[in-house]
Amino acid sequence: MVVIAAAPAASAEAAVAPIIALTDVIRVYREADIETIALRGVDLGIAAREFVAIMGRSGSGKSTLLGLLAGSDRPTAGSVVVDGVELSRADEDERARLRGTHVGIVFQSGNLVPFLDLVENIRLAAELAGRSVDGPGARGVLARVGLEGRERHRPAQLSGGEQQRAAVAAVIATQAPIMLADEVTGELDSTNAELLLDLLVEVHRAEGMTLILATHDPDVAGRADRIVELRDGRVSSDRRLR
Ligand SMILES: Nc1ncnc2c1ncn2[C@@H]1O[C@H](COP(=O)(O)OP(=O)(O)OP(=O)(O)O)[C@@H](O)[C@H]1O
Ligand SMILES: [Mg+2]
Repeated sequence: MVVIAAAPAASAEAAVAPIIALTDVIRVYREADIETIALRGVDLGIAAREFVAIMGRSGSGKSTLLGLLAGSDRPTAGSVVVDGVELSRADEDERARLRGTHVGIVFQSGNLVPFLDLVENIRLAAELAGRSVDGPGARGVLARVGLEGRERHRPAQLSGGEQQRAAVAAVIATQAPIMLADEVTGELDSTNAELLLDLLVEVHRAEGMTLILATHDPDVAGRADRIVELRDGRVSSDRRLR
């Protein structure tokens, strides 16, 4: 079994067990008689509080990898351990629990309930994670992502960038130790992309959240501690930047 842990720690107190460990992960999609091997043997260890960018061409397996970490999907073979939970053996209920409490997700389209306003969305996200946030608490989190004055708006009344910032607010409210972001800056103009990225980095640092971000953009990836590149479903390079 090969688990690539974080870089060797300089001192014992800096040594941390990986919060994410993938071992020989294979994911094959089967549809009718078409078989697509999206991941073909991925070994990856990520330490708590790391900021890792996942890069790679379209179709290289980035979203598939994030789906496994989010517990929305299971590997065809291999082991996926997230925050101490072995997801390859977990049933749907266990994986749903993990999604609620351990992992916060920011997707391209945002991930908010369309018929709830922002305060209600924040409170629901917290509740699903077993936490409780009151109205002023939810408004405080929204202010933190620059959405003061928009508390009573529903997601459709916001721009794409604002929806994504609201999705980050929902993740903050869950206090999940891990935040996943899939290509979230891709459709934003450069100003809004920068704003969102700054926000993700700020939350990652202030809340001590492990941040895993899939991106095509080398400038976005350049903000990470480490860049893991996928090629044809395998890790083709793993570089530490800082
Ligand atoms: N639900 C699915 N059913 C069948 N094949 C799929 C499915 N999801 C992904 N694939 C295939 O698996 C491979 C990896 O896809 P994935 O979405 O993980 O790539 P990606 O790196 O996220 O690409 P992009 O940069 O375009 O988002 C691709 O060949 C894709 O067509
Ligand atoms: Mg993708």
